[in-house]
Amino acid sequence: MDATTGSTVRIAGLVRQFRTGPERLTAVDDVSLEIAAGSVVALTGPSGSGKSTLLHLIGAIEQADGGTVTVDDLEITALRRAALSRYRQRVGFVFQRYHLLPALTVLDNVSAPVLPRRGRADHAARARKLLESVGLADRQRALPAQLSGGQQQRVAIARALMGEPRLLLADEPTGNLDSTTGAQILDLLLDLRDQHGMTILLATHERAIAARCDRLIRLGDGRIVEDIDLTDGEDPADTYDRAARLRL
Ligand SMILES: Nc1ncnc2c1ncn2[C@@H]1O[C@H](COP(=O)(O)OP(=O)(O)O)[C@@H](O)[C@H]1O
Ligand SMILES: [Mg+2]
Repeated sequence: MDATTGSTVRIAGLVRQFRTGPERLTAVDDVSLEIAAGSVVALTGPSGSGKSTLLHLIGAIEQADGGTVTVDDLEITALRRAALSRYRQRVGFVFQRYHLLPALTVLDNVSAPVLPRRGRADHAARARKLLESVGLADRQRALPAQLSGGQQQRVAIARALMGEPRLLLADEPTGNLDSTTGAQILDLLLDLRDQHGMTILLATHERAIAARCDRLIRLGDGRIVEDIDLTDGEDPADTYDRAARLRL
């Protein structure tokens, strides 16, 4: 796995609109920002503020109506279909509801993203290794329904790592979990960042999660309304004090 650095993400004048009947709703409204390689950034803001849409645009799951997204030296908003699908395979995506395939074992869920390609034996070995790194080496043959929510999210994270991503996008990854399990999932993501140097952008409503990230970007009506550097040398253990001060 690439142990160098994560991706740099540069966004300029990004716009995404939805047409709902005669109305036009601007879900992402002229957003510009730069995310440093290897940082863990929390994306906050009320429901409907554009967090998911922004993640989808960066992951090339949705297409922008204006502006650019550039990941490292690749302007993804200018890519054609084949190049886009190669790009998507290099980005890890984690969802609130895990999105595991219920009929597949844990091991097959993790290796599913690369099943159609060659080298299946290698993929299985790699999937086993990833399951080990998320603490689930002993549950390879279980089905998703036999796991707790936190364990299912660990499987989803292992799956997201199959493509050796340098950028991991997580949409409220702890939103379905109790706070202790949610904190453990964040521990895991921070560990993975330290091991692999990847860049992580995660949407969250939870103050205890956001306060432990390197940077907090708050959206309101599709715009950035606050952007705070949290790497200010404070003890990250004081997350509740910090969260209160940040009005999270
Ligand atoms: N496919 C869609 N069609 C129409 N409107 C959408 C669609 N996806 C999102 N929206 C609207 O865009 C806005 C931003 O949504 P979203 O990015 O999901 O916000 P968040 O993730 O912060 O809750 C909301 O007003 C939402 O209703
Ligand atoms: Mg959302």
